[in-house]
Amino acid sequence: MEKRRLGKSDLYVTPIGLGCRTLHKVEAEKAVELVRKAVEMGINFIDTANIYGGGRSEEIVGEAIRDLRKRVILATKGSIVITNEGLPCQDLKPESVKKAVEDSLKRLQTDYIDLYQIHYPDPETPPEETVKTLMEFIESGIIRYVGVSNFSLKELERWSELIETPSIQIPYNFLQRRMYDRILDFCLSRQISIIAYTPLLMGLLTEKIRDKDFIHSGERAHIPSRILEECGKIVDKLGLMGERHGMTAAQLILNWLANQPGIGCVLVGTSSIKHVKENIEGVKWRMPSSVKKMVDDLVADIEVDLGDEFFTQKVKKVFSNYAGKTVAILEIGMKFIVPPDVKAGDTIKINWYGEYLGKCS
Ligand SMILES: NC(=O)c1ccc[n+]([C@@H]2O[C@H](COP(=O)([O-])OP(=O)(O)OC[C@H]3O[C@@H](n4cnc5c(N)ncnc54)[C@H](OP(=O)(O)O)[C@@H]3O)[C@@H](O)[C@H]2O)c1
Repeated sequence: MEKRRLGKSDLYVTPIGLGCRTLHKVEAEKAVELVRKAVEMGINFIDTANIYGGGRSEEIVGEAIRDLRKRVILATKGSIVITNEGLPCQDLKPESVKKAVEDSLKRLQTDYIDLYQIHYPDPETPPEETVKTLMEFIESGIIRYVGVSNFSLKELERWSELIETPSIQIPYNFLQRRMYDRILDFCLSRQISIIAYTPLLMGLLTEKIRDKDFIHSGERAHIPSRILEECGKIVDKLGLMGERHGMTAAQLILNWLANQPGIGCVLVGTSSIKHVKENIEGVKWRMPSSVKKMVDDLVADIEVDLGDEFFTQKVKKVFSNYAGKTVAILEIGMKFIVPPDVKAGDTIKINWYGEYLGKCS
């Protein structure tokens, strides 16, 4: 498979990567086999995180790539810790970063991480402090590059003033295109590669959309019905476009995303070796320009964006950070910058990009 340079780094990755967020849900031996097969079939970019499955995903990846380490560009993420109350919360203080990196190395059974990504920004810690600690890991060869994930354009601009950043991970699929649109120009101008995650919207942009049990289970249960309806329509249309070429809706989507400007890699999660093979074939396919035009038109006509949907969350605590901004700690754990009038006990609206959308009256 073709390899692409991530940013200005010397990491060359396949345009499709294996996302390991749900790997711990697969039976252990099969999960190890899945990762090995993906590498044998040509995928060289493996993405995990310290919090996936409470560390299990990293352990599985570590076990799977022990003998294949040099063939893999290994990416993991840190910044989320589990608090004493058992809740996930961002923590990029130097001592937390040190512990997170050391724990990841152990679980991954390796002495270096190719791409260590900041999973979510921590509005409480000055980025300079985090960067200083990460630079020490870079200098000692433990981390080769530091990437970011779920940063806003402003946060990315600030971060990339402090450290060479080869990549940013963002949600990017047919129903989540806003973040990509916002950061693309900056990424192109600074040679930062975009790594697209949830390209298949957790499986909803595949044939699985017709499976009622699947769409109403787990994290998908929170997706509003008008988004599900839109997914169904998109999959139907793509199914027809791909039919003549023996391509599925998922294959068309992955191919299209991988060939958008600025994209370094598209991360797909799967529990199935068959799907790994199909996804590789989908990305390797030379999409005829007539099909590309049809997909372009379909995408341009999609009016729904998951970014317009929101969760309501209760604010547990607010405080001023080092820059005088108000930070809210939510009852679910995570911290976000909010306007100064937000108080503890308020219920606020947060969208799928983690953006504050207002108070609930
Ligand atoms: N940075 C972040 O905050 C963040 C957040 C979310 C995700 N991510 C990364 O992005 C990766 C991918 O995201 P994701 O796993 O949430 O969602 P996804 O890749 O959009 O969707 C995964 C789903 O698609 C299905 N699927 C995969 N290939 C298929 C195919 N060819 N045909 C039909 N169904 C197919 C899988 O089912 P099967 O198991 O049946 O194949 C699974 O249900 C994650 O693993 C993680 O590495 C990062």
